[in-house]
Amino acid sequence: MSVLVLGGAGYIGSHTVYELVDRDEDVVIADNLQTGYMDAVHPNARFYEGDIRDENFLNALFNEEKIDSVIHFAANSLVGESMTDPLKYYDNNLYGTMVLLKSMVKNGINKIVFSSTAATYGEPENIPILESDLKEPTNTYGETKLAMEKMIKWVSMAHDLRFVSLRYFNACGAHKSAKIGEAHKPETHLIPLILQVPNGRRGHINIFGDDYDTPDGTCIRDYIHVTDLAQAHILAVEYLQKGGENNIFNLGNGVGFSVKEVVETARKVTGHPIPAVISPRRAGDPARLVASCEKAKQILGWKPSYTELDEIIDSAWNWHKNHPDGFIH
Ligand code: UFG
Repeated sequence: MSVLVLGGAGYIGSHTVYELVDRDEDVVIADNLQTGYMDAVHPNARFYEGDIRDENFLNALFNEEKIDSVIHFAANSLVGESMTDPLKYYDNNLYGTMVLLKSMVKNGINKIVFSSTAATYGEPENIPILESDLKEPTNTYGETKLAMEKMIKWVSMAHDLRFVSLRYFNACGAHKSAKIGEAHKPETHLIPLILQVPNGRRGHINIFGDDYDTPDGTCIRDYIHVTDLAQAHILAVEYLQKGGENNIFNLGNGVGFSVKEVVETARKVTGHPIPAVISPRRAGDPARLVASCEKAKQILGWKPSYTELDEIIDSAWNWHKNHPDGFIH
């Protein structure tokens, strides 16, 4: 039996495939290559190019392969874009998941691990954030991810289907081989943008606001290494295989770092002065997002291995310095 990774050519999906292959799992990938890259596809996984909104494609795939579990990463994930083009997110994320669930039910595939996000919480009530805390997304991306979680839940109540939703905080870093890493187009995430400065691709990093209610005035985030996220997906598949009930877990380190701290650490790691310019706040940015990840630790037995910010940034730098333009040759 195989694990199907939808979106396995994307950032977190490709890292999860690498970890699955390392554990001798039989891995099948489906990706429409809209934001993923063929260069990120592991050579030992079977690759199908196609779109989850295409039910015929999914039915044919489930017919061809013996799939035990699905890990669902296939979605658009840019917060800013989700605000200017919300229907793209309803179409690819929500409608895509509807077609996927239809096909899974039809083909008797009954386990799904879903890629969710801290963006489902919106402006948090408490820090650290618990899975049970209020969820009021402040952008279309988070809204569609929350709706996808709920769709999976209701479908699981009506059909033979069990799920785990994993709400990631700030995914970052790269595979230890530096063969794959973060490469978004356009890039909007803090760490890759900072590393474009020592790479000579930009002159400075903008710090979006230094008047937040935090010790140094800049936003605080919980940075979690992509390989640790990948490991959590594998544990979630095993949890479902052992009969685990429907569940939702936060994935973070449980420690927050400010934008200024991230820039300072990147200066130390790269040895480059990385000029920073204080700029206006970015709309919709909460001041602090830090996970409580006790539940994942207790129930899944998950333990992040990259706990220090400098080792996380060092791992990202190891990829970016050799791939200044990502997967573009
Ligand atoms: N930031 C800057 N300058 C930049 C880019 C980012 O100061 O050039 C700041 C942002 O304002 C924010 C922090 O760096 O305070 C982190 O920003 P990212 O864009 O890297 O990440 P976000 O926290 O905005 O987003 C992440 C995930 C999203 C997810 C969200 C949950 O990337 O997918 O957390 O709120 F939706």
